[in-house]
Amino acid sequence: MSALSYGLQDQVVVVTGASRGIGLEIARELLAQKAKVVICGRKQEGLDKAVAELKGGDDLLAVAAHIAREEDADRIFDGAVAKFGRVDALVNNVGMNLITPSLTDADYATWQKIIESNLNGTYLCSRKAGRIMKERKKGSIVSISSIAGHRAAPAMGIYGIAKAGIEMMTRVMAMELAHYHIRVNAVAPSMVKTDFSKPFWSNNEIHDQIVRGIPMGRIAEPIDVVHPVLFLLSEGASFITGQTVMVDGGATAV
Ligand SMILES: NC(=O)c1ccc[n+]([C@@H]2O[C@H](COP(=O)([O-])OP(=O)(O)OC[C@H]3O[C@@H](n4cnc5c(N)ncnc54)[C@H](OP(=O)(O)O)[C@@H]3O)[C@@H](O)[C@H]2O)c1
Repeated sequence: MSALSYGLQDQVVVVTGASRGIGLEIARELLAQKAKVVICGRKQEGLDKAVAELKGGDDLLAVAAHIAREEDADRIFDGAVAKFGRVDALVNNVGMNLITPSLTDADYATWQKIIESNLNGTYLCSRKAGRIMKERKKGSIVSISSIAGHRAAPAMGIYGIAKAGIEMMTRVMAMELAHYHIRVNAVAPSMVKTDFSKPFWSNNEIHDQIVRGIPMGRIAEPIDVVHPVLFLLSEGASFITGQTVMVDGGATAV
């Protein structure tokens, strides 16, 4: 565990897409902070590996689920309530991209696939979590967006549109759920070193080009995203809702 403490002990937190990458690191830090954690991913093999690595024991539940399927999304939260009795927080971490041509050249199946996992899945999980949290009049939701939701970028058009949609969903849900004491926020990272973005950062030329656009002069590590997420989940952020925090080393500030 880091030296930072967020007061999240015994909080029941669902982290979607946590079998690897940023989600896995969020789950790891939540367990270190003594939270109860529910993770999901589509592939059982990836989840088994994550469970073995996280060593969360009774504080960890893994559910194989595709978040864009309504019954799967519901099953994640039903499992969380069955095991831990409630859901205090949700981290919408699932995201995927396919290298896409321009919007006019893209085929509709590609559009649907990207919108489905990023936007539809985030909606289904947020809706289910919101319904559960409304009963207790308490909760926090944090979604992982991207700077691609703020800037048009080659090969990221549909993905960026989905992320912009997630940020608008964040504002709408924040407005609708504020009087239930449920906060809804997002973080928008620039490139983070995970498998997802490996085709970009593992290429020296592309790597250097990306770093040149980041005032802090480096590509983010997953831990750079973990702490802003945990802060937004915590009581320390009790008057912050409907916001997207840029986690980009200053990239969108210049
Ligand atoms: N890495 C970056 O450069 C970067 C930058 C900005 C924002 N982000 C955002 O950060 C988040 C995490 O990215 P990452 O780099 O950690 O990704 P990653 O390494 O590809 O991990 C994605 C995780 O999501 C799961 N997943 C994917 N689609 C799913 C679905 N439909 N239902 C359930 N689980 C699903 C994957 O497991 P399965 O394959 O088994 O389903 C995996 O556990 C995403 O929202 C991404 O858009 C990433």
